[in-house]
Amino acid sequence: MGEKQVMETTEAQIAVHWQEEDYYYPSSKFIGQANLTDPDIYDRFSLDNFPDCFTEYAELLTWYKYWDEVLDTSDAPCFKWFRGGQINASYNCIDRHLKKNKNKTAIHFVPELEEERVDHITYQELYVRVNEFAALLRDFAGLKRGDRVTIHMPMSAELPITMLACARLGVIHSVVFGGFSASACADRIVDSNSRVLISMDAYYRAGNLLNHKVNADEAVAIAAKDGQVVDKVLVWQRYPGKASSDTPMVDGRDYFVNDVVKKYYGARVEPEKMLSEDPLFLMYTSGTTGKPKGAQHSTGGYLAYVTAMSKYIQDIHPKDVYWCMADIGWITGHSFIVYGPLALCASTVIYEGVPTYPDAGRSWRIAQDLDVNIFHTAPTAIRALRKIGPDEPAKYTYHFKHMTTVGEPIEPEVWKWYESAVGKGEAIIVDTWWQTETGGFLCSTVPALKPMKPGSAGPGVPGIHPIILDDNGDEVTQPGIAGNICIQNPWPGQMQTIWGDRQRFVDTYFARYCKNPESKDWRDWPYVAGDAATRSQDGYYRILGRIDDVINVSGHRLGTKEIESAALVVQEVAEAAVVPVAHEIKGKEPDLYIALKPGVEATDEIAKKISDAICEQIGKIAKPRKVWLVPDMPKTRSGKIMRRVLGAISNKGDVGNVMTLANPEVVETIKNMVDKS
Ligand code: WT7
Repeated sequence: MGEKQVMETTEAQIAVHWQEEDYYYPSSKFIGQANLTDPDIYDRFSLDNFPDCFTEYAELLTWYKYWDEVLDTSDAPCFKWFRGGQINASYNCIDRHLKKNKNKTAIHFVPELEEERVDHITYQELYVRVNEFAALLRDFAGLKRGDRVTIHMPMSAELPITMLACARLGVIHSVVFGGFSASACADRIVDSNSRVLISMDAYYRAGNLLNHKVNADEAVAIAAKDGQVVDKVLVWQRYPGKASSDTPMVDGRDYFVNDVVKKYYGARVEPEKMLSEDPLFLMYTSGTTGKPKGAQHSTGGYLAYVTAMSKYIQDIHPKDVYWCMADIGWITGHSFIVYGPLALCASTVIYEGVPTYPDAGRSWRIAQDLDVNIFHTAPTAIRALRKIGPDEPAKYTYHFKHMTTVGEPIEPEVWKWYESAVGKGEAIIVDTWWQTETGGFLCSTVPALKPMKPGSAGPGVPGIHPIILDDNGDEVTQPGIAGNICIQNPWPGQMQTIWGDRQRFVDTYFARYCKNPESKDWRDWPYVAGDAATRSQDGYYRILGRIDDVINVSGHRLGTKEIESAALVVQEVAEAAVVPVAHEIKGKEPDLYIALKPGVEATDEIAKKISDAICEQIGKIAKPRKVWLVPDMPKTRSGKIMRRVLGAISNKGDVGNVMTLANPEVVETIKNMVDKS
């Protein structure tokens, strides 16, 4: 049965299995002001009304030209939404608000240092800055519609300005999380063939001013070795005369944006009329192989979907001050800091630094000072805030009407603290389950229409029809039985393909349950999310975790293969195996088992060298909890490393019967080693 198969996978196996919880109901005050209170929405978005129902989402946007066809399936499963429609994302996030709201704050940028001033950027100012930078990108950097550009920047107002300038020109942006290493950035430059890299001089993180531009230098050097020439590096300056003065600039390649942009003061750039199905951006994410995949998102479908999700699930109104704590370098930040909230003319908060810096009250001070009323974060942050400052929220006088959690399953205990302490019992919560590939939410309650249930994401959002399938492709109908959660229908926010690798797209997300690979009927292409889940009687889904080789660390995806390949670069390493281990704050952490080459002595120095190599190649978020130097890997007789056994050891679980292994004795040795430490 499906359940057995699913349960053999490491991540799902150690997922938290909590009890069904009681419902929490939204207040009448919340319902009274909510954007979506019409229960007919679920009928309107039934599969009988598919795909036309989605025009309701598209109509939230301003189009130059309406579409010829709502859904074009001729190249299934690469679906085209609103085919033939013409639209520009930058126009929808900025220009169309100017008539009524030009003096409203679009972005509140909060620097980490509290003595620095908060920047309040109005829609008019955003318009001016995006136009000037778009002119620079076009006329100075020579970028045009369809080109790709890699953006490796920290949290700053200049990051959305850069993205929106690209969108204005139809340049496809690929934002790399600022905390990723130069080498990770280089991989993305090469894969997307970017000849322009946009960077920033420096930023603050936990009180330290980090030089960020050095990553650009290294990334360009690595990319060059792999055959991709970057001929321009554009460097935004946060600290002109301070950090920037010691940033070495390569003549003829590196330019400070702050200098060059002066030439473009006052410039206005007509937004490109993009086709709905033209790509808006790439967002790289981890999968089962070592190579990250570039999820390609469309312009019209993506923007329609995230705008609808922001309006109906996040309940964003133009008068709201909305703070999503994610980093813009992840999909959450793209969809729910930048595109969704700005398309709705809300004020979006961008915070540079660490939520608990310099103290546990920082987040709540920001909320109080900016009068934030919608708050969005991840279980890992909630756990951290709860651990170090459980009583802090009560000391500040903010009021949230709405809160989101995203990225990993949230324990009911943590959910309840979020509700009572952070939300002060006044805020509704949505637990939104989705992925980089899906653009926006898949499962969540509609806050005014469905009660909340701690620990469960909820039913499919309007228009999303989940189904749980077992390994034979049969539906698992029994409540509480785990299987592979899939989506029966395409939706506008769904990724279009993997950049440059259509086959991998088909293989990864559809091959498992597609019965007819030639089919042009969307019904034949259920989307396989890669998560194990159960459904309860009330139709709410509970997500158990990944069924593939992906580890969810603090809500961020890391491929075990990526980490293993990074370890194997160290020449003393013979074999590497990564397993997820439970962590109080991060949810999961990678634990790394290493077998060294014969004759190499196991020392702390070697362990550190391996750990450092991983941070260098991927980034600090991939740092293993521990590097275990083991005499040998537990292996099957056919030589396969038994990650399941290592996972059980790391998590102090039952290793089960290991007598059929080629080397059962090593299990005891490793177990002793881990248990003793
Ligand atoms: C994976 C996707 C979507 C933005 C952040 C992560 C896990 C995501 C939830 C949730 C339980 C969740 C899944 C999913 N996940 N949200 N509310 N409850 N699990 O995006 O890096 O693409 O990761 O995160 O395992 O597959 P991502």
